[in-house]
Amino acid sequence: MSNTVNTENHAHEGPQDEGKRDFIFIATGAAAAVGAASLAWPLVNQMGPAADTLAAGSIEIDLGKVEEGQQLKMLWRGKPVFVRHRTPEEIAKAEAEDAADLKDPATDNSRLVPMPDGKLNPKYLVMVGVCTHFGCVPVGEAGEFDGWYCPCHGSHYDTSGRIRKGPAPTNLEVPPYTYVNDTTIKVG
Ligand code: FES
Repeated sequence: MSNTVNTENHAHEGPQDEGKRDFIFIATGAAAAVGAASLAWPLVNQMGPAADTLAAGSIEIDLGKVEEGQQLKMLWRGKPVFVRHRTPEEIAKAEAEDAADLKDPATDNSRLVPMPDGKLNPKYLVMVGVCTHFGCVPVGEAGEFDGWYCPCHGSHYDTSGRIRKGPAPTNLEVPPYTYVNDTTIKVG
């Protein structure tokens, strides 16, 4: 499985996830581009109203900064948003399991947003990084379906963010977003 980098969020990670790493970037304001600064999620969580205000509105994300196999984690309206640059293997797996017995049926394509030319770009999966059970932050590249795993009560999501096993009732939410151009999305 591909690598992720630079996580500082281990608050909800189980032993199997030690060493897993991913990026977290904080929006500097409404419609702000992704900056170079990175902060730990637990720190962000304690930043108070000012941080919440800054994280409100919309954020633009330069997809070019997310290398294949990496996950960007943004704060948007007080919630983490995952931007996963999926590997060809992850995409193939997600598409191959469209017809599986899904608790919350959805094709992989239905969880994507078209680019300006109307085509889908399955490389990038954008989701709210909040478990749909009781709100923990799932760990990437983990679980029985190699997607995301929520160690709080054991929910397993696949490489499309669909719930596959465990108590979570629905798939990881896809936030409202659009492509500004082929390499930039605007969330919110
Ligand atoms: S909060 Fe994720 S499984 Fe319960």
